[in-house]
Amino acid sequence: MANTEGSAPAHYDSFATSYDEIWRVPGIRPLLPLLTSTLESVGPHKDIAVLDLACGTGIGLRVMQALGARRFVGVDISTQMLEVAKSNTPPGDRADEQGRFDVVLGMWLLNYAPSAAELAGMWANVAAYLKPGGRFVGTMENHEAVTAPRLQSGKYGVTETELNPLPGGHGEDGFQVHLRFQTEPVVEFDAFRMKKDVFERGGGQGRHDQPAVQAARPRRGQADDC
Ligand SMILES: C[S@@+](CC[C@H](N)C(=O)[O-])C[C@H]1O[C@@H](n2cnc3c(N)ncnc32)[C@H](O)[C@@H]1O
Repeated sequence: MANTEGSAPAHYDSFATSYDEIWRVPGIRPLLPLLTSTLESVGPHKDIAVLDLACGTGIGLRVMQALGARRFVGVDISTQMLEVAKSNTPPGDRADEQGRFDVVLGMWLLNYAPSAAELAGMWANVAAYLKPGGRFVGTMENHEAVTAPRLQSGKYGVTETELNPLPGGHGEDGFQVHLRFQTEPVVEFDAFRMKKDVFERGGGQGRHDQPAVQAARPRRGQADDC
């Protein structure tokens, strides 16, 4: 079922207990060490407050915990995802920083922006949650490399179908896509895949002081050619 067929929270609720299977498919598994080394770089972790936007089952918070973070908050639209996150994540202390955090995580958050304007709004929210000098770490595919045709073979454990084009001020900005992971049970949902330049332009309109989009390059052997 695509999440276009029902409410998004209910859709994510429906596979919350099996969602973590996606971290085992060949296209996603190599991202975990990359994520871990990226999160290592935002340390020292002991005293920092962390906010995870669209935390899902909490994997980002658990990586931060393993690195020493103790104060965190995770938010998500799916109550079942949050339940799984709570049951899988050892309790920490609620970060109570008047809504400002040292680190904001947004792993596969920005792909829910259906337009450059809404993406700019998401960046503005991220910036509003950060303390001065705080850092955002997110996960997002390189939209020039990850395309529906390249994912068709299934060798990455996920296929992508283009649904609706996203009209924009400069022609087609990208596509709404449907992702289907080869997990048991199948995990599938819709997202938005904007062209790289549109994505970066949208990010550039948010309220932030540093370049918003920086590519993390996998070390050789960590990722395939996708
Ligand atoms: C692909 S999962 C990523 C979860 C987690 N960050 C991870 O890396 O495993 C996307 C999460 O975003 C939530 N989500 C879906 N649509 C959203 C939206 N429009 N705004 C915010 N969160 C959304 C879902 O409930 C889901 O838990």
